[in-house]
Amino acid sequence: MTAVPPIDFAPEKGRDLTAAEGTLVVFADGKGKLGVAAKAIDKATGGALSRVVGDPEFKPRSGAVHRLAYPSGMAAKAVILACLGSAPDRGAARKTGGTVAKALGKGEVTVCTAGVASEPLIAELIWALALRLYDFRDYKTDGDENGDGGNGVTSGPRRVTVLARGARGLGRAFAPFAALAEGVFFTRDLVNEPANRLTTDEFAERLEDLRDLGVEVEVLGEAELEKLGARALLAVGQGSAAESKIVVMKWLGGKKKQAPLALVGKGVVFDTGGISIKPAGGMEEMTMDMGGAGVVAGVMRALALRKAAANVVGVVGLVENMPDAKAQRPGDIVKSMKGDTVEVINTDAEGRLVLCDALWYTQQSFKPRAMIDLATLTGAIVIALGHHNAGYYANDDGFAAEFAAAAEAAGDAAWRMPLGKPYAEQLKSRLADLKNVGGRAGGSVTAAEFLHRFVAEGTLWIHIDIAGVTLANGDTDLAPKGATGWGVAALDQLVRDKLEG
Ligand code: BES
Ligand code: MN
Ligand code: ZN
Repeated sequence: MTAVPPIDFAPEKGRDLTAAEGTLVVFADGKGKLGVAAKAIDKATGGALSRVVGDPEFKPRSGAVHRLAYPSGMAAKAVILACLGSAPDRGAARKTGGTVAKALGKGEVTVCTAGVASEPLIAELIWALALRLYDFRDYKTDGDENGDGGNGVTSGPRRVTVLARGARGLGRAFAPFAALAEGVFFTRDLVNEPANRLTTDEFAERLEDLRDLGVEVEVLGEAELEKLGARALLAVGQGSAAESKIVVMKWLGGKKKQAPLALVGKGVVFDTGGISIKPAGGMEEMTMDMGGAGVVAGVMRALALRKAAANVVGVVGLVENMPDAKAQRPGDIVKSMKGDTVEVINTDAEGRLVLCDALWYTQQSFKPRAMIDLATLTGAIVIALGHHNAGYYANDDGFAAEFAAAAEAAGDAAWRMPLGKPYAEQLKSRLADLKNVGGRAGGSVTAAEFLHRFVAEGTLWIHIDIAGVTLANGDTDLAPKGATGWGVAALDQLVRDKLEG
């Protein structure tokens, strides 16, 4: 597992910054005025930082950084001068944390935050910095397992020391962010894992480990799912040697009688397409087809670590979609747990088959007050929104607005998509109650309408298609290339606002 770097908070007062090893991070304000620590370093280096901010080429906008290597008069290998910009908000703090992290070298880090911004903003900045330091090295055999340069001497990731005026208070403000970073790292690790390692068994075991944090975990295997009549979900996995499962994670930190929020995730550990097999080019990316389940897992971990005062149930459907003699075929008709029959036109539209049973099971078992599902469901959402927004669908405007506000505050970009009867009608089947594809037109919307049919009247519901945002094809502000952890922060925020507020 990729560990979040250890982060300590200490008072800034009385520190001899010239003696600090590794990299020192100091700040200037939106006008380029040096902060307290920056001033001290400016003095020690004979005015090096004054020259940086005095250079008209240096624009003190949020996220701006300048790296000074091997400064004279200092023990540090480098000093990074960073800017939060004028009137910084959460977004500016995140961006700056990310650019600082990108500019860091190896070794220890000391961030001097006294007088720089409010506690919540500094906490947000440090959170972003930690997220950007994520580095999945489990399969690197070059001796640099933790990204520290591979000298074999240090163990564990580099240490971050945050110097502040009220170090205790900042430490307290940061605690929920630390939990959230743990959640995001958990999600990213699950998404980055190859499918030969992250089998449905392995996935379930990693979720069972959440018991150590006080999460109740229950694993349903094929025998139980068969009894429940979850034939749509089982049909997807029947061509795989891996056992299909539903895993339930319960965090009950709220009032006893309060109906839970349910989070439901698509967990296809590998999607070959099945008999409707995908083309070879890029198929390796389908190790991320469990991204929805990964987000649910990450949120549950974060909620448990920060002991959220809320009742949240996470349900994931874990299957592998493989072609095989036992695999389902195009034209097969399966009966869902709800009782509706589905004509399987395309075995590559498997996510909705997994989710329709997982959604029904969730409603029957937990009577949630609201339900959110996440899935890498369609290539069509990538065509519609690219990699810049997840697409979400909602059956209630109020709930949609609550989610939109939480996603916006957390920095997870999302765009609302429409539902509607004409889309649902594209799913009419000649032989069964419905078919699993509705043609090329509106492919993400018809997938959403497929799921909509399995949401009981009166249940608040949001479906989020995260196919475009689960992996980044290059470095982003808060993540290196690969798994992003999109959605963990948004859902944690929603729980905070809606259930704990
Ligand atoms: N897992 C894919 C969707 C996907 C595509 C995720 C690209 C991430 C990146 C899903 O199971 C799928 O194959 N969907 C098909 C549906 C079609 C057959 C109706 C698709 O989008 O092509
Ligand atoms: Mn598929
Ligand atoms: Zn899929």
